[in-house]
Amino acid sequence: MARIKVYYFSPTGGTLQVAQHLAETLGRLLHAEVEYHSYTLPREREHLPQFDADDIVLWATPVYAGRIPNKTLDYVRAALSRSSNMSIALVTFGNRAYDNALAELVGLMEEGGMKPVGAAAMVTRHSFSDTLGAGRPNEEDLAALDRFANQVAAKLLTLTSKLLTITVPGEAHPEKYYTPLKTNNAPAGFLKAKPSCNPDRCTRCGKCIKVCPMGSINGNDGIPTFDGICIKCQACRRICPTGAVAFIDPEYLSHVAMIERTFAAPKQPEFFCSETVLFRQLRTDETPLLDDFLYEAIFIPDGVAAPPKSIVENEELQVYVRNFGRQKDDRCLVAECDGKVVGAVWTRVMDDYGHIADSIPSLAMSLYKEYRNKGIGTALLEQMLQLLRKEGHRQVSLSVQKANYAVKMYRKVGFEIMNETDEEYIMLCNL
Ligand SMILES: Cc1cc2nc3c(=O)[nH]c(=O)nc-3n(C[C@H](O)[C@H](O)[C@H](O)COP(=O)(O)O)c2cc1C
Ligand code: SF4
Ligand code: SF4
Repeated sequence: MARIKVYYFSPTGGTLQVAQHLAETLGRLLHAEVEYHSYTLPREREHLPQFDADDIVLWATPVYAGRIPNKTLDYVRAALSRSSNMSIALVTFGNRAYDNALAELVGLMEEGGMKPVGAAAMVTRHSFSDTLGAGRPNEEDLAALDRFANQVAAKLLTLTSKLLTITVPGEAHPEKYYTPLKTNNAPAGFLKAKPSCNPDRCTRCGKCIKVCPMGSINGNDGIPTFDGICIKCQACRRICPTGAVAFIDPEYLSHVAMIERTFAAPKQPEFFCSETVLFRQLRTDETPLLDDFLYEAIFIPDGVAAPPKSIVENEELQVYVRNFGRQKDDRCLVAECDGKVVGAVWTRVMDDYGHIADSIPSLAMSLYKEYRNKGIGTALLEQMLQLLRKEGHRQVSLSVQKANYAVKMYRKVGFEIMNETDEEYIMLCNL
């Protein structure tokens, strides 16, 4: 049985609350056990997680300054770099913005070999404030989260040999963090700010000492001292039962006042699901699509105007598609993404630019622009090579403009250059 492993960093509990709701819903939908692992405290980050092959990993982190919290980044990168599990990315943010945090998390998952199936950014109370994001997630947020859980569960349950891609806003490799501002819009310099304890209010209960993600709080006769690095997570302030812990740094307080004033209007949660790509044969009623894909296959160098669509009527291009399906060796596979055909690869024995011998089929392929560079082309091509092999073909050839980025992909799957003109390579693949 699949298990959902939840990993969370949650100094003030908002991220855990959302992660728990999502994981329990998914657990019910998938009949899966849910296991929780905190990496909030220093000792919890001493070991990297262990994933079994069919674990579904839900990784949850708050947004700090528009990204994954700086001091946890190395741990998150290392933890996500060693497996190929299905995963779900969750970030929580305090109603300002999640900027690059979700893209950064999804990027780490993809680079580490994981397959992110869904990604969510949920609004929660801002750790700095009692008003910003107060009461979030509310009922509507949770209903939206449940709908997302249903979509993710459906993807997880129908995964067979399909390829997944996911697109989320933001940069996977951002250079900078969000610069906090003061009420006068000048940068707020509170990097070195630390909390302080009012000894008159402190009951020496020790609770604040135990929750610091940086292990930076020590007990001095029971009264806490804030000695090491402080990431301003607010765990110590929020847990203190008597209100003895406070941040009094004026730059910090001015930033809090600025965000409470500027970002009061409620933001909406956002959800993203991987696209499911299915490879199949072209249906006969879809043959006209080949004109579109023929047009998409025309290589247009940067800065050059695209030719008119009618160019595909030219005789030297029509040879690729005319009456497709009627010749014995005509074969076409398509990539279908959530119900839409987004790419095609087809072969036919023809006298085209890539013709080598009458016994060797020539291959053409293309994807709509927005579906390129996602691994779909390579997977589609590999499916076609497999089909040709199965049907007993020994070789397949193609022609490609030298400047076309696809040359790299053709080489990767086994095509080699046989011949060249000024502008083109003729490539051959031994099957
Ligand atoms: C240091 C710090 C930086 C933060 N930066 C952002 C931010 O850039 N955008 C935002 O909307 N919320 C920001 N927040 C708010 C948190 O993302 C939000 O409150 C989160 O839910 C806290 O998670 P937790 O309750 O699990 O600790 C920040 C909070 C902290 C402590
Ligand atoms: S000292 Fe700083 S890092 Fe530690 S719990 Fe308090 S706010 Fe967080
Ligand atoms: S949690 Fe509050 S009362 Fe308890 S030791 Fe810390 S400062 Fe004192």
